[in-house]
Amino acid sequence: METEVGIRDFGGSLPVDNVQTLASKKPKDIPNRYIRPEVELDIISVDESLRIPVIDMSKLPGDTDELSKLHHACKDSGFFQLINHGVSEAIEKMKVVTEEFFKLPLEEKVAYAQPPNSIEGYGQAFVVSEDQKLDWGDMLFLLPLPITQRNMSLWPKTPTSFRSTLEKYSSELHKVSISLFMLMAKNLGIDPEKLTSMFEDCTQGIRMNYYPPCVLADNVMGLTPHSDATGLTLLVQVNDVQGLQIKKNCKWVPVKPIPGAIIINIGDVMEIMSNGEYSSIEHRAVVNSEKERLSIAAFHSPNLRAVVGPLPDLMKENGANYKTLSSEDYMRLVISTKLDGKSLVDHMKIKYA
Ligand code: OGA
Ligand code: NI
Repeated sequence: METEVGIRDFGGSLPVDNVQTLASKKPKDIPNRYIRPEVELDIISVDESLRIPVIDMSKLPGDTDELSKLHHACKDSGFFQLINHGVSEAIEKMKVVTEEFFKLPLEEKVAYAQPPNSIEGYGQAFVVSEDQKLDWGDMLFLLPLPITQRNMSLWPKTPTSFRSTLEKYSSELHKVSISLFMLMAKNLGIDPEKLTSMFEDCTQGIRMNYYPPCVLADNVMGLTPHSDATGLTLLVQVNDVQGLQIKKNCKWVPVKPIPGAIIINIGDVMEIMSNGEYSSIEHRAVVNSEKERLSIAAFHSPNLRAVVGPLPDLMKENGANYKTLSSEDYMRLVISTKLDGKSLVDHMKIKYA
């Protein structure tokens, strides 16, 4: 029988040390590969006026003001917080099992370690060379959708409710993403089916991030500046330690999550499909000097039969601003590329002389 190709076949990340173990030894100094001298020099903006928009899902789709607020959030901010989304129970349960998983002894966690040449499992992502700087964090990355592609051997059995909780979380967040794609299509003036058809049977990745405290917090990076290569990302911060920052006018703006809200961001695929009307925003995660930080990101990408390119209805006036690739070629490119700001979407831009 021919087996279906999935993104787990598209390569992986080089193995590196476990950061949680490194941090638990409370070193006075840390290996040079984690030191990022540039971090200290970055400008942090705490300007309240740069707060990201808040969208109330319970008012949609009926309230035209809220719909317009959503459109502007997608166009101008690329990030927003979603409240009254109706999936709080699934989120709260997912937070608990995520915290419990990272508390397990290393020997138990490595039972789910990334196999060679795979991005799924416990480890790190986007390490493509031996001399690349490393992020101060570990992650558990799984691909719950499509269901046919699940690699259950990498789904933790402890805590015992982990698998059923993730399954529920996966389907609930997928539903929220579909509702958002429909609303965005409406706002972009296109037939919702043109967008949702690619995401109904999407590729969904769920990344549980664990950032240990670091004695040199100002000199390391939890997660390198990047924009997400997906259609839409739905992120929740697990504990109350802040760390997410988004780039605005060359400054880093810390995001203060509203308790219970989902932080949504436009990914590169949505920027490309909207032909640039919406844009993905560079963001990063910084580390706390005393407390650990955890977050869960759910990425929604088009299925592998789709094409990643501007939607024909959105390039009538000015033509295409981005190249078109098969979703499969696009995913291969994503997985083999080191995180580096918006370099991937820049690569997809058509530059007219
Ligand atoms: C990500 C991400 C931010 C965070 O996983 O892509 O941007 O706050 N995470 O952990
Ligand atoms: Ni991200």
